Amino acid sequence: MKFFVDTANLDQIKEAKDLGILDGVTTNPSLMAKEGVKGDKAILAHYKKICKIVKGDVSAEVFSTEYKDIIKEGKKLAGLAKNIVVKVPMIKDGVKALRWFSDNKIRTNCTLVFSAGQGILAAKAGATYVSPFIGRIDDTNWDGMDLIASLSHIYSLHGIETQILAASIRNPRHIVQSFELGADVVTCPLKSMEGLLNHPLTDIGLAKFMADAKKTEA
Ligand code: E4P
Repeated sequence: MKFFVDTANLDQIKEAKDLGILDGVTTNPSLMAKEGVKGDKAILAHYKKICKIVKGDVSAEVFSTEYKDIIKEGKKLAGLAKNIVVKVPMIKDGVKALRWFSDNKIRTNCTLVFSAGQGILAAKAGATYVSPFIGRIDDTNWDGMDLIASLSHIYSLHGIETQILAASIRNPRHIVQSFELGADVVTCPLKSMEGLLNHPLTDIGLAKFMADAKKTEA
């Protein structure tokens, strides 16, 4: 059971690390843009900074969509640090690239996965991780959790080593359900991770303990 934080924000990554439960980081072009990271040099430098903070896997997404370019970009990203995992979109050229990376011992995360069929292709192509997008499926009035359950069933039935990385997490409930249904990893914003802390009975119980602790003062 692994926890990744889904952000390119260095402060949030540090904060998640300080919680003591962080296993890795996922990023995507939107998250990089949100941090105002612009240009090849700045992007590579930003990944290096993330990899210095976190020892676990850091997913760095390719911006290319054509086979040769995906390979070229992925090789460059993978060369940055040992813990870089090349994130590749679920498209035809992406599947071909996953196979090439797998054959060349470069670890990958297949992103934008919305169906069991796509998850099967990613696994067959040798992806290290497959990222089903839970929240975006829920947004379309389908149930993202059905996909986690389906992938979990198929992978365990066929002894597939690709790890299920539940992505597009919107709330703490998504995290718990993903792990219940067999996700190997959940990547989520820091806010959802911290949301796991909350329970009103904890707050009420703590207030009572603190009040009673005062009564024990000499
Ligand atoms: C992470 O790998 C994904 O890119 C991310 O979780 C997508 O999340 P979103 O649907 O909130 O953009």
